Amino acid sequence: MNIKLSQRIINLAPSATLAAGRKAKELQAQGVKVLNLSVGEPDFPAPIEAKEAVVAAVRDNFSQYTDSRGIVPLREAICRRFREDTGLVYGINQVVVSCGSKHTLYNLFQSLLDSGDEVLVPVPYWTSYPEMVKLAGGVPVFVPGGTDLKVKPENLERFFTDKTRCLIINSPNNPSGVVYTKKELEDIARWVQDKGILVISDDAYQHFIYDEQSFCSIAGLPGMEERTIIVGAASKTYAMTGWRIGWFLGSQELADACAKLQDQSTSNPCSLSQMAALAALSGNQQSVQEMRRAFQNRRDLLLKILFPVKGISFPFPAGAFYLFFTHPAIKDSVDFASRFLEEAQVALVPGKAFGMEGYLRLSYAVSEEVLAEAGNRLAAYLSKT
Ligand SMILES: Cc1ncc(COP(=O)(O)O)c(C=O)c1O
Repeated sequence: MNIKLSQRIINLAPSATLAAGRKAKELQAQGVKVLNLSVGEPDFPAPIEAKEAVVAAVRDNFSQYTDSRGIVPLREAICRRFREDTGLVYGINQVVVSCGSKHTLYNLFQSLLDSGDEVLVPVPYWTSYPEMVKLAGGVPVFVPGGTDLKVKPENLERFFTDKTRCLIINSPNNPSGVVYTKKELEDIARWVQDKGILVISDDAYQHFIYDEQSFCSIAGLPGMEERTIIVGAASKTYAMTGWRIGWFLGSQELADACAKLQDQSTSNPCSLSQMAALAALSGNQQSVQEMRRAFQNRRDLLLKILFPVKGISFPFPAGAFYLFFTHPAIKDSVDFASRFLEEAQVALVPGKAFGMEGYLRLSYAVSEEVLAEAGNRLAAYLSKT
């Protein structure tokens, strides 16, 4: 029988980052030794506290539905951790826990957008933003940044219309690894207030910032708390991507709207994962610091290998665990990534997936050994093409 699919799902693009990972895994299953630098997740175990908490939760039969927005102790722990990290104070009614920050973002766009409403999406962008906006009937409006791949008010101004509802800020950024400074965020904050729109601050990589730079939340800038929605997650911070815990922090009215949607769709995120996230957030954060140090060392190793390559260029990767580079040899990023995978057995993600043709994303969330080997293969490949 020929099943008619909805136009909505026909129009939805498949996730290019997941597709790149899948191709690498298929080759690995055929016995090919692939160096997989397409991964978007830490290669570390979850914190021991989280593991122990989940085992205890299973033993204690913590297996019933919970409040759709997440258990109170977890929402309290999210508020406490955010207060310790940024000084900003939120109440538990301003928190909604979801199945990963992907789910939080989905809820948000569904709750915020009416048909034709526009969302400013700085380029390069995390691959799911535009599709989620479109699923909610909204229109993603792509805003190219400068050579540093960051947007400034003058870039945003060109794309602002009376339909603009919000701007997405993702710093540290996936895929570019760039981190906005406080001054850059202040400039954006003034512009946003002048226009009367909201900011969605996707803080997935908040804890992975290197060297002397530190995390600045746009929500903490004057006048911004009421117009910022924070999207956070246990996924990257605690190497718990598969446990699926993310959260919303912001306006209570919007929190209620997202919770209503969750009541009528997924209900609560997994009860066991909530206990794990509670333990991770309440722990000593040592595993986060260890990961941060390891990522910084790996990034430095990679830069040592790639800096000398003629023609390569990239914005300085100050955070997250990605390097986003271009080179004259990369004309069609999908074609380049596919040839590089076949010929050098290294998997990268084409820049096209993030709205920037001519670029490739490399994840350094792999061991130093794999990274050094892959980096050398890349340097050699680029030098001969
Ligand atoms: C910028 C950004 N936001 C959100 C997510 C979604 O993460 P999760 O749903 O696991 O919290 C990702 C995952 O790669 C990401 O890179």
